[in-house]
Amino acid sequence: MRLDYFIANSANQSRKEARRTIMAGRVTIDGTVCKKAATPVSGHETIQFDARDMILPGERYLMLNKPADLVSATTDDDNATVMELLPPELRRNLRIAGRLDRDTTGLLLLTTDGQWSHRVTSPNALCTKTYRVTVADPITDAMVQALSEGVTLKRESKPTAAAHLERLSAKEVRLTITEGRYHQVKRMLAAVGNHVVALHREQIGEVSLDPALAPGEFRALTEAEIGSFR
Ligand code: URA
Repeated sequence: MRLDYFIANSANQSRKEARRTIMAGRVTIDGTVCKKAATPVSGHETIQFDARDMILPGERYLMLNKPADLVSATTDDDNATVMELLPPELRRNLRIAGRLDRDTTGLLLLTTDGQWSHRVTSPNALCTKTYRVTVADPITDAMVQALSEGVTLKRESKPTAAAHLERLSAKEVRLTITEGRYHQVKRMLAAVGNHVVALHREQIGEVSLDPALAPGEFRALTEAEIGSFR
């Protein structure tokens, strides 16, 4: 699409106003001022108008590198939420596709698309979630075997589904699970007599946390990332 079409739609301007805005040097594409209204854009660039990120109306799909100490919720009466990391124009109608505990860090997906969110989080989708888990005590072979085969969580009767474990160091594993039970990873480690001291989500399905995102930063998902859940 042309830049003037993008600005007209994202800033709610007429095409004529958008062309004036662009020619006045108020629009940047990936940090560079662009004064040509006909410049083609894909929508994946960072396009700013008076230094504010512009987005087209329609569904939004974001990944966020969640820092600790923020609640994964759209509103919370008592605590700061991850929404505070996003500019106001992006927050409207966003939902979180797979929450993380307040002290858990890493990949959080947010979207306005309810069906897509359902595909990410539905238990039937068996979508994989990969966590880097740091524990208090060394991880024994018996723990690895029990966790990979499935463990019974406190106050539950059905064992967890088979999981994939990769030992990273004496007290660190990469754990991939397909379920999303309440505090699942912490309770799995507790079930084998260990204790999680740090938890970081690296991947959901085929979408990995972008290493370019510092804690608290976010970006739009690419079309391939969005399509990977279809
Ligand atoms: N499992 C947990 O225990 N906590 C999380 O935040 C995510 C998975």
